[in-house]
Amino acid sequence: TGYTTLDPGFVNTASTKSAITYIDGEAGILRYRGYPIEQLAQKSTFLEVSYLLIYGELPSATELDKFTDKIRRHTLLHEDLKRFFDGFPRNAHPMPVLSSAINALSAYYQDSLDPDDPEQVELSTIRLLAKLPTIAAYAYKKSVGQPFLYPDNSLNLVENFLRMTFGFPAEPYEVDPEIAKALDMLLILHADHEQNCSTSTVRLVGSSDANLFTSVSGGINALWGPLHGGANQAVLEMLDKIKEEGGTAGDFVKKVKNKEKGVKLMGFGHRVYRNYDPRAAIVKETAHTILGKLGGDDQLLDIAMALEEAALTDDYFIERKLYPNVDFYTGLIYRAMGFPTRMFTVLFAMGRLPGWIAHWREMHEDTTLKIGRPRQIYTGYTERDYKELTTR
Ligand code: CMC
Repeated sequence: TGYTTLDPGFVNTASTKSAITYIDGEAGILRYRGYPIEQLAQKSTFLEVSYLLIYGELPSATELDKFTDKIRRHTLLHEDLKRFFDGFPRNAHPMPVLSSAINALSAYYQDSLDPDDPEQVELSTIRLLAKLPTIAAYAYKKSVGQPFLYPDNSLNLVENFLRMTFGFPAEPYEVDPEIAKALDMLLILHADHEQNCSTSTVRLVGSSDANLFTSVSGGINALWGPLHGGANQAVLEMLDKIKEEGGTAGDFVKKVKNKEKGVKLMGFGHRVYRNYDPRAAIVKETAHTILGKLGGDDQLLDIAMALEEAALTDDYFIERKLYPNVDFYTGLIYRAMGFPTRMFTVLFAMGRLPGWIAHWREMHEDTTLKIGRPRQIYTGYTERDYKELTTR
């Protein structure tokens, strides 16, 4: 038609204006609401960062108390929704279980679905932040055939999640403060990343005025793919395979650059970063500390570091400006904490939740909001006459 521009993958097209997260991919800079990720990772907490992303400012002590308290009071799941988990096979991947249960919140909490009612939006925000960790823990419990635990609201969000995941109903559970702190920090690193695939999905679904729960469920599905959040699981599987087969980092990098069977170095490369992903730098440091303390698989860490070194000195990766991304070292930490590989992307979803909510809300506060409706360049037949079945 002459007026449509083609930009596959939105490589060069801004889909929206946004004041939430700033990335300079050339310089390796990431800031939430202007605050450098390094400072937030070191000094803040996941709930404080969630508040910052959603409401635009760091909370005062009273605001943070109120926010934390509200979330504490919504961690329980409706008893009927708990039974929903029984319908899944024991060996189900926890990501479809998570996205289905999050979508089902629309059925169980119908008093907070109206996107144009600020009170309902606030209630669905709190419900999501409070209930997603409970759902995530139940998805894990279901997969190992263990009983579900009710939330213990004397604990904070991350401690509660760890207890519901690894604890047992009749036994006291000691939360390891090192693990809780490291997990909280990893959630901060994942909390937002502007218009990535899952956030764009949340916005697109939400642009039709679909409710917040169902929009976030769409985002979880987008996150599952191995090119996006699923990469953290794919990295560990790659490392396990190299260890099992006894191959070297150099051999693997050779396979990747020869594009053998389309094999990629998972956890490397990023659409926006053409420099070291600042999150990866923080995660790498944490991997050393946590694995040192918890006695994780040093051999896998060695393979990962050898892969990184081999890639960063190889022309293929240098020419394409491919660096480790956030997913390269996270899996090693999650495994050392005791999470099975299949839970890794669920942890990413827990972290990304406040970002999804912030973007959905920012979009709805925009009075010029239009339904997302991309155009296309049509390449099919122009017009042809219908042929009767007997003549085909
Ligand atoms: N291993 C080998 N080659 C790669 C890789 C990789 N990990 N990443 C990019 N390339 C190559 C790609 O084949 C292409 O080469 P050529 O020009 O010869 O065709 C070139 O680099 C440019 O890559 P692209 O695929 O056009 O870049 P993109 O911006 O479309 O894709 C990406 C970005 C993240 C999907 C991609 O780098 C990738 O698939 N990485 C592996 C998966 C991964 O780690 N994903 C996590 C991303 S970060 C966190 C998150 O979003 O979850």
